[in-house]
Amino acid sequence: MTNVTAIKNWGQNIDSLTGFYIEEEKLAVIQDLMFSKLNVMLTGDPGTGKTEFCRRLALAHNLPFHRVNVGAIRTPRDWFGHWEFVDGRTIFVKSQFVDAIQRPGIVALDEFNRVTPDIHNSIYTILDHNREVFIEETKEVIKVHPQCIFLATENRGRSHTGIFMEDAAVEDRFETVRLELPPVDVMTDLLHTVNGAKKEHAKLLARVTHKLNDMYHQESISKATGFRPAIAAAALLLRGQPLKTALKYCFVHRYSPDGGVDSEQTTVLQVIQAYLTE
Ligand SMILES: Nc1ncnc2c1ncn2[C@@H]1O[C@H](COP(=O)(O)OP(=O)(O)O)[C@@H](O)[C@H]1O
Ligand SMILES: [Mg+2]
Repeated sequence: MTNVTAIKNWGQNIDSLTGFYIEEEKLAVIQDLMFSKLNVMLTGDPGTGKTEFCRRLALAHNLPFHRVNVGAIRTPRDWFGHWEFVDGRTIFVKSQFVDAIQRPGIVALDEFNRVTPDIHNSIYTILDHNREVFIEETKEVIKVHPQCIFLATENRGRSHTGIFMEDAAVEDRFETVRLELPPVDVMTDLLHTVNGAKKEHAKLLARVTHKLNDMYHQESISKATGFRPAIAAAALLLRGQPLKTALKYCFVHRYSPDGGVDSEQTTVLQVIQAYLTE
């Protein structure tokens, strides 16, 4: 097991992440919480960088990173491992999660609200001040390493389907920080420098993204936009596709054509056309 002293600069905040936008204050608060052994729940629309942030934060701090795809946990015992039939007998194979919580590092519980609360139940003692759990299958008490940090993510869009509302037990165990899209000028810069879009294209993609996202929050369209459609459009542009094609496939086609001239697709198309003819 990694020695406590092996983690250099433990507890020291960094003040920015290269190539990734987050408000300075939010970044500081998240680090202050996590270095105080408080779990952090990152919320926000899909595509606001929640998963990516966890990975980059670990990288920037030189901490091992383990991501749990919470949606894939089917039974409350899956957190800890599974039974396997080996040489005529069944043995319990412990999960990577069990290993990860006993080491220094960042453990990201990704898309935490994709499962019902009964799945969360079995890790409650890990996430509260006890920071330990009894594994029935192997009859051992597992203690969480003092330098193991828990981050979690949740998509909390208006219309996010297939998610479950949080119960008080979860709310008691996390401090919540909401991530947002970067401002238009920052997003323009990122699409230009990171994703290779020409400056004027990057600006258009950032503006369309913000406009559609505002419309989502005003309840005039059903889906949040996030960063992803703009990244995909930048990729198509880089491959030589015309701007119109990139916008059609990456933005317009995300919305339903049902309803013809009154469809969401028509609404989005009109918004985009207005930006194109400016
Ligand atoms: N603030 C940001 N700065 C830079 N890139 C971002 C930012 N937010 C999102 N992205 C990019 O958008 C994509 C989607 O991010 P992701 O972390 O998967 O979103 P989420 O988990 O919130 O759905 C990633 O490629 C990520 O790098
Ligand atoms: Mg994610």
